[in-house]
Amino acid sequence: MRRAFFSPPDFTFDRKVEIGNGAFGKVYLGALTDTKTTICVKVSTNASDNTFEKEFELLAKMLGKEGIIQTHGFYDGGSFRYIVLEKADGTLEHLLNVPRHSLGLPMQLSLDLIGDLGNALTVLSELKIAHRDIKPDNILFFPNEKQKEDNFRNIFKLCDFGMGRSVRKMDATFHTAGGTIPYMCN
Ligand SMILES: Nc1ncnc2c1ncn2[C@@H]1O[C@H](COP(=O)(O)OP(=O)(O)OP(=O)(O)O)[C@@H](O)[C@H]1O
Ligand SMILES: [Mg+2]
Repeated sequence: MRRAFFSPPDFTFDRKVEIGNGAFGKVYLGALTDTKTTICVKVSTNASDNTFEKEFELLAKMLGKEGIIQTHGFYDGGSFRYIVLEKADGTLEHLLNVPRHSLGLPMQLSLDLIGDLGNALTVLSELKIAHRDIKPDNILFFPNEKQKEDNFRNIFKLCDFGMGRSVRKMDATFHTAGGTIPYMCN
């Protein structure tokens, strides 16, 4: 049985190398001590609520699932809590802001995005999880280094389950509005 909470391998991170800053915490660049694998460490800056634990519980349910950011574990350091994540190269928002993409993303990139996001939405539907804040900032991309240059493909994964909820029925109604205003609908 998969444990809801599990510890990451030993890791370090540098508070001077901040790669993200959002409503629920800050994200720093780090490394796993043994393997030197580059990671991201999401640090909770709010000790008074359990949003961070809930986010990790959802991530733990989605281990090994395509299209979803993968976690190495959760660490409770008292006043700070940490979610250790695989590191992506950037977000869809970054890709959209590249000047050569000002007229739109290239066809192959768009197809890769649609395929991976489709997989992610299937996983959410199967596991009865509502993300509730899907937007370009919360879609990460990873170049797939395993593939040859002529078969290059970007990989996209959904991240930031801070607004996420488990839902018993997929047609459940939420009574509290949530999300990021320009991306919300009613
Ligand atoms: N695994 C990762 N690899 C690379 N960058 C990441 C990773 N996780 C997060 N980031 C960066 O940090 C930013 C903030 O992370 P995240 O969205 O998880 O936090 P948040 O505090 O919930 O933000 P918000 O609620 O404002 O969207 C992301 O938009 C992205 O730029
Ligand atoms: Mg976010």
